[in-house]
Amino acid sequence: MVKLIRTTNELISCRDQEKERIGFVPTMGNLHAGHISLLEKALRDNDVVYFSIFVNPKQFGPSDDFQKYPRTLEDDLELIQKCNSNFEGKKIVVFAPEKPQEVFPLNYSQTVAVPTFNNIVEGRFRLNHFDGVATVVYRLFEIVKPHNAYFGLKDYQQFLVIRQMVKDLAMPIEIIGMPIIRETTGLALSSRNQYLSTEQKQEALNLYQSLLKISNFIDGKKAKLAMAKKEINTILLDAKWNYLEMRDAETMSEDLTKSSRITLVAVYQLGSTRLLDNLQLEVK
Ligand code: PAJ
Repeated sequence: MVKLIRTTNELISCRDQEKERIGFVPTMGNLHAGHISLLEKALRDNDVVYFSIFVNPKQFGPSDDFQKYPRTLEDDLELIQKCNSNFEGKKIVVFAPEKPQEVFPLNYSQTVAVPTFNNIVEGRFRLNHFDGVATVVYRLFEIVKPHNAYFGLKDYQQFLVIRQMVKDLAMPIEIIGMPIIRETTGLALSSRNQYLSTEQKQEALNLYQSLLKISNFIDGKKAKLAMAKKEINTILLDAKWNYLEMRDAETMSEDLTKSSRITLVAVYQLGSTRLLDNLQLEVK
């Protein structure tokens, strides 16, 4: 069963009646198989799943695509319904606030910041973005009060921000990171891929292929990191990269001397579309 709720008051009273284990999947809608993989996992792990669809104004910068971000509620509900039919007896509550004030009432003045991660890597390019993400996820956690919450590792830094926030604020919520779902070509699924022309979609393959190339070059060996940095510098000669970096997978520090797991994080920009991807690897 799928229940659609459009107001916070209704959501809170629905939530108050739940006695079972609650999973939560926050999204901005325009759903694809990446989002559905989170929903499936949440349905497997929990009795009831709350699924939010909310294009959060606080995480978009002035020159970002907030206005043109695709809003496709009917198609989204269809995908959710289809997914639910494979999980007989489980309930999905879709929270699609009818207006932003449902989530952020007028004069809402709280900001949740996670300074450890908000100004580095992707944060350098998107001022206040991670504060906007942490603030909305905190607010949604407050309303939904889930036991488990599911995030894609596609937005790896976002996952670290949320995990840190929950730890800092001692919120009793388990944060589960889920693998990146890709097209067969390797391109990570993203709502923003639809902005790409056929030609740009071809060019976009460069992103994951470059990450794989560096990962294969490193081959799990810490001793190879210095040479890998040189490889990266050659790759970066292509001006379409916003960045391509090796960082510690837990702290996102540039210092990898003590790292056992690193993340290759990158943004490749085609026209005005910034494509974000990453890869995790163990090193010894
Ligand atoms: P959105 O971009 O809609 O993504 C919702 C969730 O789906 C995030 O956890 C994201 O990491 C995950 N996701 C997106 N593409 C994926 C893919 N190819 N494979 C696996 N998971 C994928 O991320 C947001 O919304 C917002 O910032 C949000 C957390 C909802 C706060 O507004």
